Amino acid sequence: MERRYVIAGNWKMNKTPSEAKALLEEIVKANDGKTACDIVLCVPAIDIPAAVEATKGTNVIIGAQNVHFKDNGAYTGEISAAMLKECGVEYVIIGHSERRQYFGETDATVNLRTAQALANGLKAIVCVGETLEERKDNITFDLIAIQIKRAFKGISEEDMKNVIIAYEPVWAIGTGETATNEQAEEVCAFIRGLIAELYSVDLANAITIQYGGSMNAKNAAELLAMDNIDGGLIGGASLKAPDFTTIIDSVKA
Ligand code: 13P
Repeated sequence: MERRYVIAGNWKMNKTPSEAKALLEEIVKANDGKTACDIVLCVPAIDIPAAVEATKGTNVIIGAQNVHFKDNGAYTGEISAAMLKECGVEYVIIGHSERRQYFGETDATVNLRTAQALANGLKAIVCVGETLEERKDNITFDLIAIQIKRAFKGISEEDMKNVIIAYEPVWAIGTGETATNEQAEEVCAFIRGLIAELYSVDLANAITIQYGGSMNAKNAAELLAMDNIDGGLIGGASLKAPDFTTIIDSVKA
C-alpha cells in the first residue's frame, strides 16, 4: 500500500447549501485533473447533497464532519453512517477537538464512531492533539499515545487502511499560531512509530498522517515537505478557493 497525500478541508459550521455549491464549483475548476494528492472537503451535513452534486465526476471528494456510532434509533440531531453513505460521502472527520471541547466527545466515543464509520465503508479522519496546557506540562506524547490507543482499540489492521490520522494541536486551531515544522513533524513521527508498534511497520509506512492548525497558503509547503506529514486538515483556508488551491499545489510531487 502506497502512502497517499490527502489535503482535506474542514468547513466547520460555515456555508449554506447554495454557498457550498458556489465555492465547490470554484475549487473544482481550479484543481481539475490534479493527481498529486487526494482532495477532500468535509462540509456541514445539510450541504452534503449539494456538495456531492457539485463535485460529481471530478477529483474532489466529499466528507462529513461527524457520524453517530449506532445504526439508527432515538438519537435526536445525529446522523448515521448509512445516511452519509447513501448521500455519496466517502470520508468523515471523527474526534475533532471542537467536538471534544463543546460536545462532550471522548476517546471512547471516538472509538465507537470510528468503528461504525469503517464498518459502513466510510474512510475516517481521526483527530488527535494536545491543548496548550498539556504541551506546557510536557505530556504531549503521553496524551497523543492515549488518544491513539483508545481511538483504535479493537480496530483491525485491515480497517486501519481506511484511516487517516490528523494531528491538530488545539492551541494552533483557528488561532493563526501554527506549530513549527519541527513541532508538527516530531508528533507526526511519534504517531507513525506508535502505529508501527500497535500494528506493523507496513501499516505505519502506508498510513496518511495530516497536520492541522492554521495551515495556510504561506506555510503549507514547508509543513508538507516534512517526512512524516502527508497532508493537511485545513479550516479557515479551505473556505477560500485560491488559498486552498495553493495548499493543494504545495504537495511535493
Ligand atoms: P484552522 O485551519 O482554521 O486553524 O482549523 C484547523 C482545523 O481545525 C481543521 O480541522
